Amino acid sequence: MKLCMIGTGYVGLVSGVCFADLGNDVVCVDKDVNKINLLKKGKIPIYEPGLSELVLKNYKNKRLTFSTDLKKSIYTSDVIFICVGTPTKKSGSSADLSQIYNVASEIKSSVNSFKIIVTKSTVPVTTGDEIEKILSKKNKKKNFSVVSNPEFLREGEAIRDFTYPDRIIVGSNDIRSNRVLKNLYAPLISKGAQYVHTERRAAELIKYASNAFLATKITFINEIANLCEKIGINVEDISIGMGLDKRIGSRFLRAGPAYGGSCFPKDTKAITSTADKFKTNLSVIKSVIKSNENRSSLLLNRVYEILNKKIKNKKITFLGVTFKANTDDMRDSSSLIMIPSLSKKGAIIKYFDPTGYKKEFSRVKNVSNVNTIKESLEGSDLVIVHTEWNDFKSINFKNFIKGKKFIIYDMRNIYSPKKIRNQGFKYYSVGR
Ligand code: UGA
Repeated sequence: MKLCMIGTGYVGLVSGVCFADLGNDVVCVDKDVNKINLLKKGKIPIYEPGLSELVLKNYKNKRLTFSTDLKKSIYTSDVIFICVGTPTKKSGSSADLSQIYNVASEIKSSVNSFKIIVTKSTVPVTTGDEIEKILSKKNKKKNFSVVSNPEFLREGEAIRDFTYPDRIIVGSNDIRSNRVLKNLYAPLISKGAQYVHTERRAAELIKYASNAFLATKITFINEIANLCEKIGINVEDISIGMGLDKRIGSRFLRAGPAYGGSCFPKDTKAITSTADKFKTNLSVIKSVIKSNENRSSLLLNRVYEILNKKIKNKKITFLGVTFKANTDDMRDSSSLIMIPSLSKKGAIIKYFDPTGYKKEFSRVKNVSNVNTIKESLEGSDLVIVHTEWNDFKSINFKNFIKGKKFIIYDMRNIYSPKKIRNQGFKYYSVGR
């Protein structure tokens, strides 16, 4: 099949290259000339395990091409995927759909034969209806079909999530486009993925409801962890005990810092804002948003307690600053709140992240990036394990002690409290 992916961010690039790997001819289009030129040279703008190799393989065998020419790319494609960003609006909490509608307007004048236009971007319910209206201004309805096919891949696991999805959701209001999409996904369906066909609006909502539910699950266990700390029991026992109930399930019950990333914070806000428009109060999701927004202050309070409220001139190390492991993404990472707040209180902060220097801290006073775990630990008073990178899981802290021992605050519960305490360290973690 001939496919066009508009937008070469996470969703567009990963799904584009994976579709090419399944034997389709894929053109990935972006307005950003620089980005396209780099991609043509094999340089990948994001950190995603395995992506670079897959891009090179499919670029070499010419199933994957890159272009800035949207019109031409649409002319030569049967299915066009819209994969541009839908960030939160600068004012308010609804999704900014300007990029989606700009793309729809550009597609409008390039429909030369029957085209299936698919939104892969996360878009609020009824966005498909709006796209259809835009396209109808220049085209007969029979000449195109607008479909919703939300993407459920996670950063850091993107290729595996695309290749072995739990489900493929296709929302379309006509049989023809459903048939084409089912055919496109046939190689994944034959490996066990469930294919679910719904109305277009339902598919749009499934994506938001899924992300909001996962955010709720995390927030739920984070609050239970707060209670565990007060009672003196281990939240991991609670997660295991709860998770074994198949109705609950064990995944996304890891307590830790506030959830972050480019999706959960933005999508939870957007779904409540959409619901408000439809005069429905999603009060559970609203309190999840609030609880998550308070979480960084809660963990910071713990830091103050650990350091006996004496932050000034304390040397604090952050191991990991990204919002989760296996990504270089800093969007809505809780470190963006914690590090500036500790710096304001006079702490001297060093951070080490396997994905290197972060421009986000360049203007924050007394914050420096170091290139090795060793450098980051030297002379530290408090080591905060912020991100659960594998690189940190087997650190032998004893080897890094010269003189006074540092305190460890493991915000991801990656170490055994008993083992670390037996080595003589003061050790704190989350909900245990
Ligand atoms: C999330 C969803 O998991 C994907 O299914 C979805 O496709 C994607 O958003 C999207 O909408 O595009 P992602 O943002 O890559 O994927 O990250 P997750 O792995 O879901 O983690 C999100 C946040 O939750 C992170 O801050 C992570 O540390 C936190 N988390 C996750 C926990 O604190 N505890 C857990 O048990 C799981």
